[in-house]
Amino acid sequence: MFGEELRKHVKPDPAWVDLVAQVTQHPDRPRPVRSVDQIFMLPGSQLTQALLVSDYLKYRDVVMVGDGDCMGLVMAHLANKGLFRSPAKIRIFDFDERLLAFIAQAVRDLGIPPDLISCHRYNVRDPIPERYAQAHEVFYTNPPYGSADCGECGKLFLARCMEFCKPAPSWGVALLPFAHKEDWSRDAMGSIQTFLCGRGYVVSEMVREIHQYHLEDRPSLRSCNLVVDRIRNIAAPYEGARIEDEQLSHFYGRTPMRMPEYISINAEFVYSDGTREVVGDEPKWRTARPALP
Ligand SMILES: C[S@@+](CC[C@H](N)C(=O)[O-])C[C@H]1O[C@@H](n2cnc3c(N)ncnc32)[C@H](O)[C@@H]1O
Repeated sequence: MFGEELRKHVKPDPAWVDLVAQVTQHPDRPRPVRSVDQIFMLPGSQLTQALLVSDYLKYRDVVMVGDGDCMGLVMAHLANKGLFRSPAKIRIFDFDERLLAFIAQAVRDLGIPPDLISCHRYNVRDPIPERYAQAHEVFYTNPPYGSADCGECGKLFLARCMEFCKPAPSWGVALLPFAHKEDWSRDAMGSIQTFLCGRGYVVSEMVREIHQYHLEDRPSLRSCNLVVDRIRNIAAPYEGARIEDEQLSHFYGRTPMRMPEYISINAEFVYSDGTREVVGDEPKWRTARPALP
């Protein structure tokens, strides 16, 4: 389908927009940290996405790898209000403690069944926790784009998603920014799709330009929705391996950056040698404890 047109045909009830806003505009939602590619999707796009993707996630065990958009929470909230059938289980893996704490709190605030969503601190550079290997039928991910490394960081997110998922016929949904008129973007998309095919997946749907983001410097850059189906069982790369710093320097863009192990509840980058660096003046979680020892 074709994003721009398709959006016109999804005519959401304003009451549904308000439900999404109860998550996306929640006063305790942590501020996005742009340097690690947290760029929030706009609520209208998020509602459209939730409605369109719900059929692929219903009744399934779903793994979400990187969920700054709080899509798991939005899906659970809308399903709980009866808009569509719920996934059976949503496991969220992200390296931002603020985000995970917020989701856990919002699950309680919004009256979502507590066993529907679980949150796990995890960095994609590390091997996945063994007990969750092949534990899911569907993955959902919105990885960093890989504008500076031809899609390599997107591939690492996707490789971990593959490990989290069952053998064929399982499937996944990946949201990837895509500027189809720009060479660098076509190259990244080509490299990611070649990677997916080489690892036993086919692209069964691609909807171009369907989501918009709070992206002040590139408001026109939209992302596409890619649905991929596992048709052959081929081991994902990096299984059991931790990715070294040297391979990750362009993970978040052109300016080389050392990858933090995680973002603490107090909005600090925490590095492998134990050093901490405050993320910035503003993006703190409102109810964060003042300091950790
Ligand atoms: C890469 S961003 C993509 C943009 C998306 N719209 C958003 O704002 O979340 C998605 C998520 O990946 C998480 N993330 C970034 N680097 C990660 C890493 N190395 N391991 C695990 N999660 C990571 C971020 O915390 C964020 O929540």
